Amino acid sequence: MKSKLLDDYAEKYTSAELPYLAKLNRETNLKRGDAVMLSGHVQGAVLQMLSRMIQPRSILEIGTYTGYSAICLAQGLKEGGVLHTIEIDEELQDIASHYIEEAGLLSSIQQHIGHAKDVIAALNESFDLVFIDADKSNYELYYDLVFDKVPVGGYILADNVLYDGEVVLPETEQSKNARAISSFNKKVKADSRIDHLLLPVRDGIMVMRKLRE
Ligand SMILES: C[S@@+](CC[C@H](N)C(=O)[O-])C[C@H]1O[C@@H](n2cnc3c(N)ncnc32)[C@H](O)[C@@H]1O
Repeated sequence: MKSKLLDDYAEKYTSAELPYLAKLNRETNLKRGDAVMLSGHVQGAVLQMLSRMIQPRSILEIGTYTGYSAICLAQGLKEGGVLHTIEIDEELQDIASHYIEEAGLLSSIQQHIGHAKDVIAALNESFDLVFIDADKSNYELYYDLVFDKVPVGGYILADNVLYDGEVVLPETEQSKNARAISSFNKKVKADSRIDHLLLPVRDGIMVMRKLRE
């Protein structure tokens, strides 16, 4: 039984949302019709907890939106570490920068505006943690592009891998994005270079750990 009541219960028994994240959550919901894209309280807490466990020196996020998940992931950075986040829509830059500053993370979060495939190619560094959360049709491409930039023992996360439950429908009844996600999930399952766990949190987070090159 997965219900709003259980979601509320999980939220109640998860550490309170940091004040600036609660404000960003509220502002995004007030100003944008697509606020369902924001990670939100519980998923944000999951990302924050995973990042704190991994303690990455460097993080790459694909899909900044208003900056919520970037701020959550950056909480786990090692001192002096950097999170690079990529967004194609330049209109989102100001709200994200505003809250990154309010979170005191200006020196640890670097925003990039552009198509993720171009920005990833131009970033000449390695990432202990990658979060894929942009256009679903390119998940497989992003996975391939980042794989060599992640060291053995590093992690890749991908959001929305349940795609609102559509992944269990017959292929003929799936939307284009759900088919792209199903194909991504099959690719992950077939890749023996990684360990992977599909966490059924919110819309599903695929957690992958690189075992070998
Ligand atoms: C689901 S939202 C990201 C949500 C954010 N990570 C969070 O949890 O709060 C996806 C974002 O990816 C961006 N996006 C879509 N296609 C992109 C691309 N090709 N390159 C970079 N960003 C892209 C969208 O504009 C949107 O803001």
